Amino acid sequence: MKYFVTTAIDYTNAAPHIGHAYEKILADVIIRYRRTQGPAFLLIGVDQHGQKVQQAAQKENIAPADFAERVTAQFLSLWERLNIQRDGWAATTDPRHKRAVQKVLQALQDKGELYKAKYSGYYSVRQEQFLTDKERNAEGEFGPEWGEVVLLEEENWYFRLAKHKDWLQNFVRTHPDFVTPAFRQVELLNAIERLSGDLCVSRPRERLSWGIEFPFDHEYVTYVWFDALLNYVTFAGYEADPGSNLPDFADLWPCRAHVIGKDIMVPAHGIYWPIMLHAMGFPDDQMPRLTVHGWWNVEGAKMSKSLGNVVDPAQLADQYGADALRYYLMRDIATGHDADFSIERLLIRYHSDLANGLGNLVNRTINMVQRYHSGLVKKSNTNDPELEAIKAAAGLVLNRYHEAFVQFQPHAALEAVSDLVTQANGLVELKAPWKLAKEPAQSDLLQDVLYTLAETSRLVAALMEPVIPNSAAKILEQLNAADYRELVWGKLPAEHRLGEPTPVFPRFDDR
Ligand code: ME8
Ligand code: MG
Repeated sequence: MKYFVTTAIDYTNAAPHIGHAYEKILADVIIRYRRTQGPAFLLIGVDQHGQKVQQAAQKENIAPADFAERVTAQFLSLWERLNIQRDGWAATTDPRHKRAVQKVLQALQDKGELYKAKYSGYYSVRQEQFLTDKERNAEGEFGPEWGEVVLLEEENWYFRLAKHKDWLQNFVRTHPDFVTPAFRQVELLNAIERLSGDLCVSRPRERLSWGIEFPFDHEYVTYVWFDALLNYVTFAGYEADPGSNLPDFADLWPCRAHVIGKDIMVPAHGIYWPIMLHAMGFPDDQMPRLTVHGWWNVEGAKMSKSLGNVVDPAQLADQYGADALRYYLMRDIATGHDADFSIERLLIRYHSDLANGLGNLVNRTINMVQRYHSGLVKKSNTNDPELEAIKAAAGLVLNRYHEAFVQFQPHAALEAVSDLVTQANGLVELKAPWKLAKEPAQSDLLQDVLYTLAETSRLVAALMEPVIPNSAAKILEQLNAADYRELVWGKLPAEHRLGEPTPVFPRFDDR
């Protein structure tokens, strides 16, 4: 079994923004951590069908397929730029996905979970959607933003959602780990309480052509959420044709974390998705889990094209480096909560934690070992209490670190690591190796101090690697410790030659 993580698949109706980058980095950091513990698999992808894409393409007078392909290329290049290590790529126009979605629809139809019915209601021609009372304004009318509103009757396919309400309610109540963080469970249970009615899962082709054709009714395409949610199983090998080159489903399922934003928990991931799986025949112990993150805002406001405050992650990575961006986005938010994005905060984090904290520790450690011991660290077993204290602190930090990852909280893991860096930098002042170097009687102690600093540098680099893979690899290289990545104290050999020091985190304020 592999530890299987997925993210939301990103809409290809517009260019990627910082929120997209955050979610993929969060998932990438989790999976890189998991790879230190055993086999793991990350699936990410793009949501290419649906009305939003069709409309965006129409505006440019190009085919939806071409539009989706162009935006998909932007996402793919961003994931390269940000070092997202994916194992699978879920693009919903992939014929393998379409076939599997059609098989699922057919199976649900055979089980009596689908039915065709007429619906009549108010329809906005401009927005191409049915309106409900929620869309009425304070005067009880549909405002001018909806354009012409007509009474329309339409026949569609429906999925029997309401029938499974009791099952879902009971499932969520008895499986508190279905949703992380825990406070989201209350929100979900309230939403399930309000659930009534079934889910329309088709769109007539004449209104929306950009979707997966219904296998048993060719005048219809599949509703984009029904298509999109299924990516989590289809790209994991569910209902795959022989020779499809997809993973073995039994190796991955159930997914350990669908990493998604708070806006798509209700109703899509918390209601539609578990009910779809249940109706498809998945038993309770084969249900996936949700990791629901908060949003990055900009100066307290929601990011939006109309406000002109959309932050472009590719540009930030080019300016400050992928690791600086990854570090900031992991360090300045607690998973589940919102945070405010600012370049000032990014630079503060970079300079204080990375340049002054980690970078300084590594740089002065290697420099001192070069100067006092020609690059050779040697352990002496003096059992000095202040050195023993660092070792003990490292043990506690390791516990906090693993616990933080179990809770999907990289910021807490990084906070623990930072504490160790601070303590090690304090040790340099406390032990003043430049004084010990002048006293021959202290040579064993000096050796142990330098070993402790080098080992702390190694361990910290290894612990930071999921978040800042490039910088951590450079540090391990300088420590000549690329082969010693274990997350345990004392893995640097008792006699070990370090490499040359080169600053890994150049400052941005003195350029
Ligand atoms: O919702 N901060 O796609 P999407 C943090 N295609 N996360 C954010 C964010 C922000 N400011 N803005 C968006 C979709 N996100 C569907 C998903 S899954 C079967 C289909 C997150 O491109 C958002 O919460 O609108 C979601 O998890 C992801 O980015 C993709 O959003
Ligand atoms: Mg969205």
